[in-house]
Amino acid sequence: MDSGVAVFGGATLTPSVSSSLATNVRLFHLSPHRRTSHLAAFRSTSHLFTHSSSFKSPLKPHIFLPHLVASLEVEETYIMIKPDGVQRGLVGEIISRFEKKGFKLTALKLFECPKELAEEHYKDLQSKPFFPKLISYITSGPVVCMAWEGVGVVASARKLIGATNPLNAEPGTIRGDLAVQTGRNVVHGSDSPENGKREIALWFKEGEVCEWAPILEPWLKE
Ligand code: RTP
Ligand code: MG
Repeated sequence: MDSGVAVFGGATLTPSVSSSLATNVRLFHLSPHRRTSHLAAFRSTSHLFTHSSSFKSPLKPHIFLPHLVASLEVEETYIMIKPDGVQRGLVGEIISRFEKKGFKLTALKLFECPKELAEEHYKDLQSKPFFPKLISYITSGPVVCMAWEGVGVVASARKLIGATNPLNAEPGTIRGDLAVQTGRNVVHGSDSPENGKREIALWFKEGEVCEWAPILEPWLKE
């Protein structure tokens, strides 16, 4: 039977814990006054381990990211090794983390990204002060573009990648193990199933995404 995995405060929770926790967190999200003390165990007191620098008030629960709760649907995500990952020879290492996990690679290419494409890809961040720096980073050398498919792959890939700031990323994650700066965080992962589809359509032409059946599938899914 399929089971969901909740990504919560950097911890992976078992299905039974995650479902009761998800219920509690939903209550917490709707009504901060109903927050129960056991939730405090999942919130770090250190700013280093909160995902948002705007996390100041306990009444503003920024710790729950709905898009980080793995779904039971087959999804697609766009993963991209950024120019620093390519230059530092981390391509094989990064791809192997997704392969070993058990997701299915459906598209792969080394690509020099035009400025317009980088701007379209990161258009939601257009108003951020770091946007020009981000665009020049992403276009500074070839990137490796990938599409991966699997149940709950969007949230799981984000979990494998780790926090945006590599110093906040857990050891064992790609950014936690392989990077030290937000501006050189080696890899991108879509942040929602909708963006997964949008980004794959943006970076790949028709015919570049393959449909295939891995023969190991019965050894990954019951
Ligand atoms: P990505 O989209 O690349 O997977 O990264 P993300 O979701 O973890 O983070 P996001 O907020 O989408 O930011 C996109 C990328 O912009 C760069 N960035 N620089 N304060 C800064 O200087 C800053 N903040 C973000 C990072 O390369 C980040 O991955
Ligand atoms: Mg992002």
